[in-house]
Amino acid sequence: MLTASPDDILEDVFERVTKSRIFKNRDVLLPDYIPERLPHREQQIKKVASVLAQALKGYKPNNLFIYGITGTGKTAVVKLVTSKLQQKARQLGVRLRISFINTKRDDTAYRILAKLIESLGFKVPPTGIPTSEVYSRFKRLLDKRELLMIIVLDEIDYHVKKHSDDLLYKLTRINEELSRSKVSLVGITNDVNFTSWLDPRVKSSLGEEELVFPPYTAPQLRDILAERAKLAFYEGVLEDGVIELCAALAAREKGDARKALDLLRISGELAEREGSPKVTVDHVKMAWEQIEKDKVVEVVKSLPLHSKLILLAILKLTKNKDSTYTGEVYRTYKELTKELGIETLTLRRIGDLISELDMLGLISAEVESRGRRGLTRIITVESDPKAIMKGLIADPRVGELVR
Ligand SMILES: Nc1ncnc2c1ncn2[C@@H]1O[C@H](COP(=O)(O)OP(=O)(O)O)[C@@H](O)[C@H]1O
Ligand SMILES: [Mg+2]
Repeated sequence: MLTASPDDILEDVFERVTKSRIFKNRDVLLPDYIPERLPHREQQIKKVASVLAQALKGYKPNNLFIYGITGTGKTAVVKLVTSKLQQKARQLGVRLRISFINTKRDDTAYRILAKLIESLGFKVPPTGIPTSEVYSRFKRLLDKRELLMIIVLDEIDYHVKKHSDDLLYKLTRINEELSRSKVSLVGITNDVNFTSWLDPRVKSSLGEEELVFPPYTAPQLRDILAERAKLAFYEGVLEDGVIELCAALAAREKGDARKALDLLRISGELAEREGSPKVTVDHVKMAWEQIEKDKVVEVVKSLPLHSKLILLAILKLTKNKDSTYTGEVYRTYKELTKELGIETLTLRRIGDLISELDMLGLISAEVESRGRRGLTRIITVESDPKAIMKGLIADPRVGELVR
């Protein structure tokens, strides 16, 4: 049999992609693209703008706290409004500085303060100065600049949960210590229960103004996708029903616009790779499966070791049958811990971990009565076993057991 040479294979791939008339501009579907238009966010844009517009008159805007689940347009709205505000301020000759920090990326107080200092046009070494000293330096430099500063802290929950709300507390009080500059804060979080992590004083100060971003409905997601698709795809490339299906699937998944856009992008990529002239509903279904599998892999990867061992036990036991039960899982789990030479958790503790795996949707563990012998749980695998295994063997300790 003839096998294709690497050159032929590569030529084929390159040709498909370069000849493809699917994407006009794929990048507008990537998460960091900020669109000029944000359908169904008119109210939120108006609210953010009216709070921050005080800055144009030289007044300190109220602090603003924004929350809503992921993919509801919080970052996009704030970036859009602040960039327009900055332009307007420049036109009007208002001394306004806006600093946007994502605390998932820059999570320590030191990093956050260093970024703030950078946005004032100065530098701080990456380490070596006590954080309190960096804070004083920021305060001093800021006051010298005679500015109004709006500090946006996106995904603020990452910083606070990992460290504390000390820095946030200081920043809400900073105006008392400044004489020539002023600071306003905009805090954004995807965690709707985040305020329980805050000192009541920080909470009330940060929440002078509050704004919720509700999840998008399927028809709203359809509008968002349709708008973006005009920029991303050549005309007539999307088969009827593609946008509707992306919208419906993402709406079912909590109304997340990022998910909807990912789905549309991956569908397009699959079509391109196949050399198909159109993106079809089947491409969307394939893309969805792929996203779901990737999600399973990520969830499994993030589990603690003992949960991974339980999952491995369950996979082994259900290889040739539909279900297993707690006692059997425990025995296999015990063998695995022995093989690794680590402690074995109690049956009771394992029961808790099994419930957690059930809640994550990886398995189902239904309680069943066995008469006088008490209760057991019938356990079945609910996610793609291959995806689970992929997540498991990413952990070298588990990988050793599988080899
Ligand atoms: N109303 C909207 N119109 C167009 N695109 C949107 C809209 N809302 C969100 N998006 C897009 O969806 C993705 C996620 O939005 P983002 O602002 O990052 O959500 P959040 O910060 O709430 O998690 C981004 O790519 C963004 O451009
Ligand atoms: Mg965001």
